[in-house]
Amino acid sequence: MKPDSTLAAQANNVVPASEEAILRAVGLLREGRVVGLPTETVYGLAADGLNPLALARIFEVKQRPLFDPLILHFADAEAAFLLAEHVPEMARRLAARFWPGPLTLVLPKKEIVPDLATSGLPNVALRVPAHPVAQALLRAFGGPLAAPSANRFGRISPTDAHAVHLELGDAVPLILDGGPCAVGLESTVIDLSGEHPLLLRAGGIPLEEIEAITGPLQRATPVDDHPLAPGQLKHHYAPRKPLRLVNHADKIPSQPDIGWLAFGSKVQSSSFAGVMENLSPTNNLREAAANLFRALRTLDDHLRVSAIYAIPLPAHDLGLAINERLERAAH
Ligand code: TXA
Ligand code: MG
Repeated sequence: MKPDSTLAAQANNVVPASEEAILRAVGLLREGRVVGLPTETVYGLAADGLNPLALARIFEVKQRPLFDPLILHFADAEAAFLLAEHVPEMARRLAARFWPGPLTLVLPKKEIVPDLATSGLPNVALRVPAHPVAQALLRAFGGPLAAPSANRFGRISPTDAHAVHLELGDAVPLILDGGPCAVGLESTVIDLSGEHPLLLRAGGIPLEEIEAITGPLQRATPVDDHPLAPGQLKHHYAPRKPLRLVNHADKIPSQPDIGWLAFGSKVQSSSFAGVMENLSPTNNLREAAANLFRALRTLDDHLRVSAIYAIPLPAHDLGLAINERLERAAH
């Protein structure tokens, strides 16, 4: 099965993100409904961040457990920090450097933030996305939008509008098409609610760039039911087919039913009998990040492929965040 072409043609809830479509989205959001939204990281499933019934709809459509809190999105830092009980100096420095962009900050929440947005936690996750369509919708809506990645719970995050339709179908009345996501990995999540900054999720900003400001970051280990990082379940990003992480190309069977999620200039697709998706033939980790979820989806949907293999990428810059997702997809 081709991942999008046929289904996409029938997906009449996917529309180009024109000014008119954005106004339609605002109308739906004000009614408490959900909308598919492009961001520079991945597509989100957006709803009015201050309306508990609208938030409940997100959990319902995604089949997401209520213990997994949502990120609130804002047009700018000023609006975001209004919902924090207090804003440490480090939050202002990170925001000045990385917003708008793929960074989420967890801060103590103000009373007005619904419990459903934070799963009852005293902290709220705040982000200012850079994508022009997300910016336009946030400004037109005039309030925070809660938006988890627009996939069913535990599945691969969508990086284009048709992947949102494949994940959630007609449960979403409108999916704004803003093209493929430039970053392709979810935002980096930093918890600044405690004494020391804590990395909750490696993501679209290379860790090195953040640590240049914060100093070495402590990590919340991504284990099941960790109270600090409720969304960091081991079995996230799951393709339907088994994903096997191996340490060398020798361990990848050269068979027609094998999919290889490859990386780099040295891999030879001509000598491989299976189906290869190369994340970046030029060894570029940013390009690999942008292609990761689309390539994973392509292999997962490929009729001939029965198992997917990958070798961890170089463990620096965005390679760290990519490897973390591969490990969880393999779990
Ligand atoms: O790039 C992104 O962040 C995308 C786009 C759409 O903005 N959104 C996204 O949302 O990835 P989601 O819901 O798939 O992931 C949010 C992560 C989860 O791991 C969640 O547990 C964590 O952020 N999170 C949210 N609120 C939190 C809180 N109050 N405390 C700790 N972790 C929180
Ligand atoms: Mg997600």
